[in-house]
Amino acid sequence: MNIGLIGCGNIAPAYITGCAHFPADVRIVACADVDAERALQFAAAHQLRAQTVADLLLNPEIDLVINLTVPAAHVAVSLQVVQAGKHVYSEKPLALTPSDARLILNVAAANDRRVGCAPDTFLGAGGQTARHAIDTGLIGDPVAASAFMVCHGHESWHPNPGFYYQLGGGPMFDMGPYYLTTLVNLLGPARRVTGASKRTFEQRIAAHEAIKGQVLPVSVATHITGTVDFHGGAIATVVMSFDVWRHNLPVLEIYGTLGTLAVADPNTFGGPVRVWQAATGEWRDLKLEGRADIQRGVGVVDMARSIASGEPHRASGELAAHVVELMAAFEIASGSQQHVPIQSRPAAPAALIL
Ligand SMILES: NC(=O)c1ccc[n+]([C@@H]2O[C@H](COP(=O)([O-])OP(=O)(O)OC[C@H]3O[C@@H](n4cnc5c(N)ncnc54)[C@H](O)[C@@H]3O)[C@@H](O)[C@H]2O)c1
Repeated sequence: MNIGLIGCGNIAPAYITGCAHFPADVRIVACADVDAERALQFAAAHQLRAQTVADLLLNPEIDLVINLTVPAAHVAVSLQVVQAGKHVYSEKPLALTPSDARLILNVAAANDRRVGCAPDTFLGAGGQTARHAIDTGLIGDPVAASAFMVCHGHESWHPNPGFYYQLGGGPMFDMGPYYLTTLVNLLGPARRVTGASKRTFEQRIAAHEAIKGQVLPVSVATHITGTVDFHGGAIATVVMSFDVWRHNLPVLEIYGTLGTLAVADPNTFGGPVRVWQAATGEWRDLKLEGRADIQRGVGVVDMARSIASGEPHRASGELAAHVVELMAAFEIASGSQQHVPIQSRPAAPAALIL
């Protein structure tokens, strides 16, 4: 499947590298960016054809477009892609609101095109090993989970970090997709959310050399916490924060009737994945299932294969729309002081061992 890429920024090279592991399935042929110079440079560096966004969308050679623009542009670009008759795979978040996420799915369906969305980290060896552990009953029935992403934000390293503090950014919309997608992959879809949130600092100061000292206004909540109840019965405690300097919290753990599963950072593709079972009373590392060389882009590869075979793809628009609904619900709950019922209920993606 021939692929075009819109958005030639920080994350774009990871897709070139990741897709290159699967040359029989996908081939990135062209790229575009609102910044024409950036597209030209990226094309030259990776032997692609640089095009304008409009020309790339008209390019009959391209079947699927990877949308790597900033979150605020995701909806407009993804809609343009499916309206141009191409499948779209978007970086996360799929949209900034549940209604916009639904709009993309509806317009894609009307155009008989598919929607895929990051993250695809849950398809890596770590995520798949954790999924296998739960599916085979290693920890019994999941009772509860904890998911903690706490740091002091991305202005310390990112060359263009402003978007992390605007609508579509913040710790929940930036990092929540990794944690919540992984939880849904392991525990199935969620039924309700409650939460509390706050914006601690009015502004952030960029530290990357190119923009050192630049003041970044903050317009979103930067500490968000809450609980998620899953249809399967488990309850997850979630904290997503850009306000914490240091901590001693676990990353992601699932607590079952027979033991505990400690999952690797869901923003990575690997391990370790550790299990503690009441039967043995000790921790052990699980042997990782599947390919260890999988990188960003495996969701695109799975999507291309699934389009060819007619099967559902795993990093799907439905899953991503569910995650957008969950992420939005924490803040709605914080404002309304009530649980927020979740409307969407995607099927859990099929397990995958590539
Ligand atoms: N940087 C990371 O480590 C990382 C990791 C995982 C996911 N992501 C996600 O990837 C996406 C991009 O992040 P990034 O860090 O590469 O950002 P970036 O700012 O470095 O790059 C975004 C690029 O998109 C272009 N762009 C913006 N609006 C556009 C539009 N309407 N049409 C065409 N081009 C447009 C910009 O000119 C820029 O070149 C975000 O959704 C982010 O959440 C980033």
